[in-house]
This record gives sequence, structure tokens and C-alpha cells, in this order.
Amino acid sequence: MTAEPLPPGATVGIVGGGQLGRMMALAASKIGLKSSIFAPDEDCPAFEVATFRHCAAYDDRAALERFAREADAVTYEFENVPAEALAIIEQHSHLAPNRRALEVSQNRLEERRFLAGLGLPCAPHAEIRGRNELEPAWSNLTAGQSDTLLFLKLARYGYDGKGQMRIGGAGDLAPARQWLGNEEALLERGVDFAYEFSMLCVRDQGGRMSCYDPPRNVHKGGILRESIVPAALPDDVLATAKDIAGEILAALDYVGVLAVEMFAERHNGGIRPIINEIAPRVHNSGHWTLDACPVSQFENHIRAVAGWPLGTTERHSDARMVNLLGEEALRWPSLLEENPSRSLTLYGKKDAVSGRKMGHFVELKPKP
Ligand SMILES: Nc1ncnc2c1ncn2[C@@H]1O[C@H](COP(=O)(O)OP(=O)(O)O)[C@@H](O)[C@H]1O
Ligand SMILES: [Mg+2]
Repeated sequence: MTAEPLPPGATVGIVGGGQLGRMMALAASKIGLKSSIFAPDEDCPAFEVATFRHCAAYDDRAALERFAREADAVTYEFENVPAEALAIIEQHSHLAPNRRALEVSQNRLEERRFLAGLGLPCAPHAEIRGRNELEPAWSNLTAGQSDTLLFLKLARYGYDGKGQMRIGGAGDLAPARQWLGNEEALLERGVDFAYEFSMLCVRDQGGRMSCYDPPRNVHKGGILRESIVPAALPDDVLATAKDIAGEILAALDYVGVLAVEMFAERHNGGIRPIINEIAPRVHNSGHWTLDACPVSQFENHIRAVAGWPLGTTERHSDARMVNLLGEEALRWPSLLEENPSRSLTLYGKKDAVSGRKMGHFVELKPKP
């Protein structure tokens, strides 16, 4: 824990160079802090806007040490950073969120054990170690109803729907076996959800927590397309979701912004929130906070890491955030012409590869 808030002019190190790191660096700069990005890819979106750049591999000990020594506090922008890199960094700088938060959320099996340990609700699932465990687990989870939809998710490195496949019946087992090989994975029952939403919460170094209004999230092919606030959650669902998020943050002794992706599951004629996964970082479904809130998720994250007082998580407007994937971003002139009040953000990525997150726009409406 940093004893004193970092003064303006201090440096916040950010591990990872994607768009989340870029928006964190901009938020740091907004409040007079310097940013230092550590990323292996010279062309990464965050380098363009950072004060300092460390371009090296995540297993380059000397480079990690130089980076950590230069930073007054360090955070990370994605959960697939090797935990060993954070173990080196934490010896030389103040790290937030802590390494445990990364370890728990970078492995789906670890994450489920952690959530089960807290008694928090997830879809029925099984741990799979290699292809031979697939069929018995499938039989158990489908319980005689072989057309039950299951999701097979690799334990590590999945994102944007990558690293997972759907099993809709016995005929999918052979390809799934082949796809899985000897990997570890989570096999999970498909959730009959009314909609998806996410809790975006921030916790400061003194343990105070605050949540943004949860957005309703629309995914296609496993990739987030839109986030809409308000999500119009029933009050009891919102209250339960907040309790769930609070337990997770407290159990991890978490500092910074954390997202809990949730399903609003249909249950006994009503709806109940269950957890899909957690992300120990700012989140795509919270980008609208840059436009609809006095203090965005990025600024609140940096404030928490720097030991500053947190800002409000209130919003002044209703919002709709739309992701621009691949070539959709090339249409930016017409997107702006169609609606001049759209707020556009582009991440500075060169190649508009299909499905790649290139930018987003936000539309606001005054809150009724
Ligand atoms: N058990 C499930 N039931 C229904 N839909 C699911 C399930 N698991 C994943 N999905 C869908 O796939 C999306 C991506 O899955 P997720 O586990 O969040 O992986 P990623 O790490 O790629 O975000 C989810 O947001 C949801 O739309
Ligand atoms: Mg997800």
C-alpha cells in the first residue's frame, strides 16, 4: 500500500499496451501523472500516448526491473500478463491490483474455485484435464439430455470468444476432443439468460467500494458489440449483483477497477444474476463512462492505483456504446456525419483485421 497519494508528476507504470492501456495512460495524463507502458509490441496502441515506453518481452527480467524502478506505482491492463512478471515488478514498485487478482482471473479453473470458495453463483461446470475427461463430464452435465448446449473454454488465454467452442450434441464431441488435445479447460452448461450485464466497480486503498450503473451488454460471436445504460435491472437483481461484486473485491483485497461479467439468468419465472467471469481491470463495457460520467472508469482506476480519493461513479446521461470491429472503423467519416453528437474513440491500430477492436463510439441521452 502506498502510504501517501502519489503527487502530480509521479509515474504510473502500465503493463500491457492495448487500447485499455492507452485510455489509462490518457487518464493519468489528465490528472498530471506520467505514464510508462511496458509492452512487447512496438506498434501497440498505448505507446503512442505514453510518457515513457519499455518495449520488451514479459520474461525480460532486466527490462521489467528497469520499468518497475522508474514507476511510483504499477498497474496492468490485461489479465494474460505472466504472473512471474508481476512477481518481479512488485519487488520494485507498488502494484495494484495485486498479483493474486491476476492469478485468479487468468485461469478459468482457478477463477471458478475462487468463486465457489466464496459460495458465489456460476453456471454448472466441470474441470477438464485433456480430451479423455471430456465425455464423462459432458454426460454428467447434460444428464441424459444430449442436446443441452455446453461451452468448452480453455483455462487460459481466451478473449473475445476465442479459445472456446460450443458443444450442442454428441456429434460435437469428436471435434471438441481433437480441438482440446491435452489442454486444461472448463466445461460449462449454456445459460438461458434474458440478457448479459456487467458490474464495474472500483475500490480504493482503504477498502471503500463504489459501482457504476451496470450496462446491458450485447455480444455476437463471443465479442462485445454494444453496452447500454441503464440496463433496467430489477432492484433485487442489482442489489444481489452489487453484493456479489463487493464480496469478490473484498476477498481479493482489490485496489482499482474490476469488472464482473454477469448473466441475468431466467429462473423460476424471474431473473437471477450469475457470474460469467471476472476481469481485474477496466473493461470494454465501461467505455461509455468516459462520456456519461464526471469521472470515468479509467480515471477512477488511476486514482485508486495512485492512492487518490476516488471520484463519483454517478452518471449524468444514459448512454449507448458501440464497438467498431475490423473494417467497421474505416467508416468513421460517415459514422460521424450520420450523427454529429456521437463521441468517437479510435485506438490507433494499423490493421483493421476482422473482429479486431479498432475503436468505439458513444451516444448520450440526458438522464430522464
Ligand atoms: N455458459 C454460457 N452460456 C451462454 N452464453 C455463454 C456462456 N459462456 C459464454 N457465453 C457467451 O460467450 C461470450 C464470451 O464468453 P466469455 O466466457 O465471457 O469469454 P471471453 O473471455 O472471450 O469474454 C459471453 O459474453 C456470452 O455471450
Ligand atoms: Mg467475457
